[in-house]
Amino acid sequence: MIEKKIAPSILSADFGKLAEQITLVDRAGADLIHIDVMDGHFVPNLTIGPVVVQWVRSATKLPFDVHLMIDHADQYIEPFVKAGANCISVHFEACKHLNRTLNFIHSFSCKAGVVLNPATPVDFLVDVLEDLDYVLLMSVNPGFGGQKFIQQVLKKVERLASLRAEQNLTFPIEIDGGISLSNLREALEAGADWFVAGSSIFSSPNPTDTVHQMKRIIQEFTSA
Ligand code: DX5
Ligand code: ZN
Repeated sequence: MIEKKIAPSILSADFGKLAEQITLVDRAGADLIHIDVMDGHFVPNLTIGPVVVQWVRSATKLPFDVHLMIDHADQYIEPFVKAGANCISVHFEACKHLNRTLNFIHSFSCKAGVVLNPATPVDFLVDVLEDLDYVLLMSVNPGFGGQKFIQQVLKKVERLASLRAEQNLTFPIEIDGGISLSNLREALEAGADWFVAGSSIFSSPNPTDTVHQMKRIIQEFTSA
């Protein structure tokens, strides 16, 4: 079975103490640190650039999972790799030459992922699946944390899991947006492997305890 992972999204962390917040979820048992990069063009919000990533790189040894919600992604791949990104995902909707962009990410020995917005069919990826390391399915419209989970995305997770099996591939399916203790189980059942969670971790009264509870749900599912 593909390893299941929790990826806290720092978008909902306290940016005044970002390094501490990353250390906190690392100690709680997080598997990846999800970093949301927004450009104010592809999505209506602005967030983090490579400089911030570089500053927080020393806070943890966990892989940095960088989610680029930007136009002209190719221009920023090398700066993010240099700043410490281990996995970089680009939006299908923002890339004119997806194969070229994936090859470019791989040329830095970085894992390459493709992200689909909620309205983009998974079948659009059918001819590129073997060239990527993971697929990220958005379960909210990208741009903001704390939005409501879009239930129909679970059908896309199931469809992608069956395309993956048809092609004998083993890439993880990541799901991002509105993931919480109450829907983690159904996302697991649909076939998702990596779970991005921002507000449900960082805005909870006890982020450490929330990560522990998420890990417990995963453990119960995988050992059943
Ligand atoms: C949304 C981002 C998400 C966001 C998730 O555009 O890609 O990673 O931080 O936040 P929650 O878990 O609060 O929906
Ligand atoms: Zn994200």
